[in-house]
Parts: sequence; C-alpha cells; structure tokens
Amino acid sequence: MNNCSQAPQTDSTRAAAERYLESWNTSGMDWDAWIAEVALAKREFATLINASPDDIAVFSSVSEATSAVASALDFSGGRRRVVVSEAEFPSIGQVWLAQESRGAQVAWAPVSGGTIEAEAYDGVIDDQTAIVSACHGYYLNGYLQDTAAIAARAHAHGALLYLDAYQTLGAVPVDVQALGVDFLASGNLKFLMGVPGIAFLYVRREVAARLHPTVTGWFGRSDPFAFNVKQLDWSASASRFDSGTPPVINAYIARAGMEILNKIGIANIYAWNQILTHRVIDGGRDRGFTLHGASDATRKTTSTAFVVADSHAIEAHMRVHGGIIASARGPVIRLAPHFYSTIEDVDRALDALGAALA
Ligand SMILES: Cc1ncc(COP(=O)(O)O)c(C=O)c1O
Repeated sequence: MNNCSQAPQTDSTRAAAERYLESWNTSGMDWDAWIAEVALAKREFATLINASPDDIAVFSSVSEATSAVASALDFSGGRRRVVVSEAEFPSIGQVWLAQESRGAQVAWAPVSGGTIEAEAYDGVIDDQTAIVSACHGYYLNGYLQDTAAIAARAHAHGALLYLDAYQTLGAVPVDVQALGVDFLASGNLKFLMGVPGIAFLYVRREVAARLHPTVTGWFGRSDPFAFNVKQLDWSASASRFDSGTPPVINAYIARAGMEILNKIGIANIYAWNQILTHRVIDGGRDRGFTLHGASDATRKTTSTAFVVADSHAIEAHMRVHGGIIASARGPVIRLAPHFYSTIEDVDRALDALGAALA
C-alpha cells in the first residue's frame, strides 16, 4: 500500500539488478552494454509518456533534473517570474527558491482544501513568467492537477510548463503531447516499480534546442567520447541535459520496472486502479475516516490520504499488527495500492488502519 513512497520488489526488477552484477563480475567492465541499457531505459520511459527516446535525459533524482532545467533559464531579463504550485514536493519548490539568487522571483499558486484548480494560476502567471512548475499528482493526497489547462495558461503568457509526474507515472495515463508540457520529470521508486537513484526528464524538442543547462557534463556533449576538454558543444537531442556517468545499475532496474507497466498497459492499470481508489475512498467513509483532499477518484492518482493525529505511530501500528505497509506523511496516512493489489488487500489495509486508530 506504499507505492506513493516505495514500490515493492518484483522478480524481474531483482533479476535486472542481478544481470548487472553478473555482467560486472564476469566481464569486469562492459561500458557498451551498460550504456546501451541506459538507452533502453530511456526508451521505456519515452514509451510511457508518448515521447521519443531522443527527448529524454537521465539523472539521479527529480531534484537534480529540476536544477538542470532551472540552470538553463535566464532570469536576468524580462522574464524573472517562476510560478510554483503550493502542491509541489518541497524539494521542487526549494530548487526554484534557490534561483532567486540568480534573479528569479517565485510566485505561488495556492492549494485550497487539499486541492488546486487551474484557476488558482490565474493572475499569478503573467507576461513576465519564465516557467510554471506544477506537479501532476499532489504527493500529500494524490490530487491530480489539470495539467493541460495549466499548460494552456502558461503558454498563453509565453511561459514554459514544467511537470513533476513522480506521483502519477505508472498509475495514470500521461501523454506529453496531449498535455502540452515542455518538461516532465519523474523518478522510478513509486508507481514505476523501481529504486532510488534514477530519474528521467522529458524536454520538448523545440525547447531543448534553445537551452544550454549550466548543470552539465560530458554526457551532454554531441560526442561524449571526443574528450576535448576545451570544447563545450551541445548534443542535438535532450541528452544535452545529461551530465556525468549515468546510474547504470539503477537503469537496469528502472527499465525492468517500466517494462512491466508498459506490457500490462497504463490504460488497463488505470482502469483497475480507479476501482481500487473507489474502494479505498468508500471504505474509509464507511469506517468514519477523515479523507484529505478530493473524494472524486477521477481527480486522483492511486493514493488516498486520511487525516490522523500521529501518522508515524499509525504507520508503525499497521506494519507491526496488520502486516500492512502504509505511508505516513505529515498530517496524513496514505494508502497507495497498485495494479497487483486486490479488493481484499484494500479491505485488509482499511481494517488495519481502523485498528490502529482505535
Ligand atoms: C512528487 C514528488 N516529486 C519529487 C520527489 C522527490 O524526488 P527526488 O528525491 O528524486 O528529488 C518526490 C518524492 O518523494 C515526490 O513525491
């Protein structure tokens, strides 16, 4: 029930890690194969979001990806404003705040009642806005922002749209073309069934072509193996956002995790996850739990949050006495089942939460 924080291990992700360890052990070094695996992981990520592998860069975290995007923006001229939703994961807001020393001025789109509508951006996005940073799913309660409507608002003012899809990718269909986003980032340890230490960034091709991130390194060059210390050229694709040696073993695992999801199909996963989400919301209401945020499952990813007095004590009680891994986050306990979960799993988790509350 913990996919909003860390997905469980699967046979195929474990086998992927072992494949890398075996390669390292038997060949000593096989950079061609290892870098090819990173390229395959980019491909798998691209498939998830309806993009091309050339539009994907790789990082070790979403924070790092956000910093690379920020480093490519100029806040010294007429576009200094950065509009950030209050629903962002703190790290993302903090990356944007750090840009204030480079001339950026952060303005906030407010959360109200645990949700945030596209209208919350009206009057905050203006013609001096460089970029709007909006998460797809709110980490606290799974609320889905209306990304296409926010992208349209950003673009109407000539601003870019940065989307953090960490809480949705793998659970909710995401199509970067339909949503109209300029950047999309996600790590892999939540609904993508992977591990910490790897994240991917999509950059719209026309946007990538005019940006030069100063968070960079040899893998961002047109030929990383040219070894020309005095030359700073730029890869023609989104790999200009790559920096140093990529996280290879994490790429093996990430690819295997994403492969599971792409094989099942996100539309199928979403349909089942909606049923699970209804069950969590309805079951929580029947047991008298206090829901945090929206009760409309169509406006949510597969996380549901209930307000509790001491979320960490509740999490520990559920784990020890109920055999359930839930996720404490500030004022809430989150239940985040996924495609492999059953209705019985959900009921058992709700009962364990009820017992912990009692
Ligand atoms: C929506 C969202 N964005 C970003 C992060 C943090 O990403 P990273 O640690 O890869 O920077 C989290 C993490 O838990 C998250 O839920």
